[in-house]
Amino acid sequence: MADDRPILFFDSGVGGLSVLAPTRALLPRAPIVYVADDAGFPYGTRGEAEIAARVPALLGRLAERYRPRLIVIACNTASTIALAAVRAALDLPIVGTVPAIKPAAERSISRVIGVLGTDATVRQPYVDRLSAEFAGDCTVLRHGSARLVELAEAKLRGQPIEPREVELAIAPLLAHPSAREMDAVVLACTHFPLLADELQAAIPQQVLFTDGGPGIARRVAFLTRDQEWPAKPSPGVAVFTGDANVATELRESLARFGLARVEALHHRSL
Ligand code: DGL
Repeated sequence: MADDRPILFFDSGVGGLSVLAPTRALLPRAPIVYVADDAGFPYGTRGEAEIAARVPALLGRLAERYRPRLIVIACNTASTIALAAVRAALDLPIVGTVPAIKPAAERSISRVIGVLGTDATVRQPYVDRLSAEFAGDCTVLRHGSARLVELAEAKLRGQPIEPREVELAIAPLLAHPSAREMDAVVLACTHFPLLADELQAAIPQQVLFTDGGPGIARRVAFLTRDQEWPAKPSPGVAVFTGDANVATELRESLARFGLARVEALHHRSL
């Protein structure tokens, strides 16, 4: 029997679309609900306690409403802080997005890698553990940027991105004495793959970017391997927790990612 329960993707904004895209490519018939917590946006400049309280509560509400078969927390900030709490609270598979340090370290020749995330993500002990486990012999340069998150949001609203803005946002990373040797950069915020071209243009040398998207797509396909899907693909739904009007400017971008319908689910602002 066809099973029409969706996969629910969750982020503070449009960043999770970079995780949705590879999953849709592997599972084209999967029904999708994409939730942007724009009432809580941005996450990256908030404290751990706020994220740890908000994300499990909101995902609990969303799970009741949309009855997903699986949830993807398509946000590094929320995952590195609240993944364990969400798993403990909900009785369904939860896939998190954590910085793709392992594939970057596996491929780096120079053994200097960058980790570009939000301020909240780059200071997490989770990142210390990943660096120690997978990149123990690398110099790991971390940089948090809230501005890059705003620029990715603007790009998906069709606004032009000034190259100078991207250069300024990553200037502290490039100012590090080892930065010229860096040959791999972990895009440890799901918004940043949406700016990969702009980021490469702002870095003097060619670098390899890694992000969690492809690995998550494979994990979702594995976890759902014995499940049925509807016979035909259905239009995905984009849900906004704040001002559904934000969706007007995003409509074209959302449609490119298969999200043809927009809904509002009001959740208190932080
Ligand atoms: N996309 C989110 C992440 O992966 C965070 C963006 C924000 O600051 O809200 O970390």
